[in-house]
Amino acid sequence: MTDFTLARPDDWHLHLRDGAAMADVVGHTAEVFGRAIIMPNLQPPIVRTADALAYRKRILRALPRGTSFEPLMTLYLTDDTSVEEVRMAHQSGVVRAVKLYPAGATTNSDSGVTDFGRVEAVLALMAELALPLLVHAEVTDPDVDIFDREAVFIERILAPLVEAHPQLKVILEHATTAEAIAFVEGAREGVAATITPHHLLMNRNAIFTGGVRPHHYCLPVLKSERHRCELVRAATSGNRRYFLGTDSAPHEKETKEGSCGCAGIFSAHAAVALYAEVFETAGALDKLEAFASFFGADFYGLPRNKERILLRREPWEVPASYAFGSGSLVPLRAEEMVAWRVLARPSHHKSTTRPNTP
Ligand code: NCD
Ligand code: ZN
Repeated sequence: MTDFTLARPDDWHLHLRDGAAMADVVGHTAEVFGRAIIMPNLQPPIVRTADALAYRKRILRALPRGTSFEPLMTLYLTDDTSVEEVRMAHQSGVVRAVKLYPAGATTNSDSGVTDFGRVEAVLALMAELALPLLVHAEVTDPDVDIFDREAVFIERILAPLVEAHPQLKVILEHATTAEAIAFVEGAREGVAATITPHHLLMNRNAIFTGGVRPHHYCLPVLKSERHRCELVRAATSGNRRYFLGTDSAPHEKETKEGSCGCAGIFSAHAAVALYAEVFETAGALDKLEAFASFFGADFYGLPRNKERILLRREPWEVPASYAFGSGSLVPLRAEEMVAWRVLARPSHHKSTTRPNTP
């Protein structure tokens, strides 16, 4: 198959950053996706409804002209998040979820939750409001091996939390292990997972191919081939509990290539094309649309997008870098080929003139 159309997809896990850097990356997503769940791990994090509203306005102002992209906002859960704040967030109509980072788990997560007992009342309210909890599912215990942090978190924290709040909608963000898939598959109604393109395409060897590859370092870290195969099986299975979330996480080139490089992989420039490669290789292109465009909206209780986009099997080379604020970023597959290209942008949006755009 060389051409196929699908309903306009949504990205259920996206980092946009802020300021000039945000203005440089948001178009990559807005050109293709209808909506995206915007992660709140700014510095300082988005902990109040007022912060989320202001951040949303900045994103809307930075959108390329003519785009109808809708940023879906999130609140960053801390030990001190109040039930009043969560109620207000829900009433705002623009905050669609609350993100749980265990303190210290990843980039800008220092204000995350240290004591799960302290967020019980907030979780109970979220269950009542049908406001999903998005979970970065990794323990931060330095004694736990980095490759085991997701599995240990599921056993110690997530499984008990899901049972203690039987009505709470929970999304295990960026699932990376067979244990995560087994957990989601066996969990009660209202438990789902997002899966990134990089965890579907690469295993942990990609961090060390011919030397250290900082642009393949992200959190949760890439896992072994056994886990990658299980993620591909889950994503392409047609199970509505799995849906698209890129975790596209831009960092300046220099901050990733230093002696202590940041975690995060930027994939927004080619996200749908990269997923198409995965589904094609698995012989499951017919399952891509539901994963990319239906199951996430259904889980969040939002309408599915009506417009369609066109994917063509037409290889193109990813540029070495894209603009990113005062610097640049190195995208996934930089100077390598991607097999698919999104051709028909949503009809009301003219393609941008940014020189680096494929
Ligand atoms: C994310 C970031 O850079 O904000 N990094 C990453 O490796 N995924 C944070 C996160 O989602 O863990
Ligand atoms: Zn993320």
